[in-house]
Amino acid sequence: MKSLEKAFSPFSLRGKEIKNRFIRSAVNDHLGNPDGTVSDAEIELYDTLGHGDIGVIITGHMSVCPDLQYRADIVQLSIGDDSKIERLKKIADKIHEYSSLAIAQISMAGPKGLNPFDFNDLSTEEMTEIGNWFVEAAVRARKAGFDGVQIHIAHWYLLQAVVNVDLNHRTDKYGGSIENLIRLPREIVEAIRSRCGNDFIIMVKLNAHNTLNAVDDYDILIQYVDILKKAGVDLAEISGADFARKDRNAKLYYLDAIEVLRNRFPDFPLSLVGGISDKESISKTLEKADFVSLGRALLTQPDFIDMLKTGVTEKSRCLHCNKCFEIFATKYKRCVFGPVLPKLEETFS
Ligand SMILES: Cc1cc2nc3c(=O)[nH]c(=O)nc-3n(C[C@H](O)[C@H](O)[C@H](O)COP(=O)(O)O)c2cc1C
Repeated sequence: MKSLEKAFSPFSLRGKEIKNRFIRSAVNDHLGNPDGTVSDAEIELYDTLGHGDIGVIITGHMSVCPDLQYRADIVQLSIGDDSKIERLKKIADKIHEYSSLAIAQISMAGPKGLNPFDFNDLSTEEMTEIGNWFVEAAVRARKAGFDGVQIHIAHWYLLQAVVNVDLNHRTDKYGGSIENLIRLPREIVEAIRSRCGNDFIIMVKLNAHNTLNAVDDYDILIQYVDILKKAGVDLAEISGADFARKDRNAKLYYLDAIEVLRNRFPDFPLSLVGGISDKESISKTLEKADFVSLGRALLTQPDFIDMLKTGVTEKSRCLHCNKCFEIFATKYKRCVFGPVLPKLEETFS
């Protein structure tokens, strides 16, 4: 069995010390108030995560759009106007109580939202306006005390569609060449860097594949990372659109992409997410990446990292059954193993 020495070693990003190499990947908690503000149950959730000795805690995706009807769901958090800052500060403060880094994930639902739309139908000015919403959201995250943001360019949401070669049919400056496909995220990164300063962390979450057939397309990923890195991104977390369809026994879903990126960018901070839930897959990830990101393992056991560190377990109890996606509808439960937060039961029952 491999050692976890690297996993529990510190790392510095933009002058901020990170206590270990674990990232809690963004997980939409479905606990927000209907008006898009942070609920008490959410603060409780981040308190529970904070106890778990996680280096970096990324929030669930928050909608950058000022109009709540374009969120991903009716309880998704909004970071789309200044009235949200006060309650968001409670999440950042809670995460900092435990000396973890607080990162706000900023996102625009687009094709998967409550009111889905196709970005190909938008004018150039409307695309630029969406970019501005991301920038304003990052400024709010900073005001709320977050150490940085993660721009959501993965899974099924707007920006991942924009950078997907097969989904982007635009003929203006936001479509066509690889440079044009990544233009909107690049503009967002450059503007956030200029508005939020040099000590503000900017991460991106990218799909390993940016075509629909997902074959032989790593050259696109390399170009995207190269452009975003030059624009001011500090860390890329590599995911994929098919994580919820993987076999239960599959592991390290996107390790190939990390290997390709590591060879091309030896010093650029990288994290891998998807199918990592035991000591062996964590060690394997850290042979190539700087960080390991966990989603479902921390959903079922928010103290999993502590348990690893103290040798209580070497394997998460997560079955990768994906029932968590359905169970969210039953309010307080989060996992087939039952409610992970007693307080949530109190809140919702
Ligand atoms: C219930 C649930 C909600 C999620 N919400 C988000 C989200 O808000 N933003 C995001 O980037 N990924 C989200 N994800 C994906 C996770 O961050 C992660 O990429 C995925 O679960 C694969 O990692 P894992 O195998 O460690 O679970 C979500 C996953 C689950 C299970």
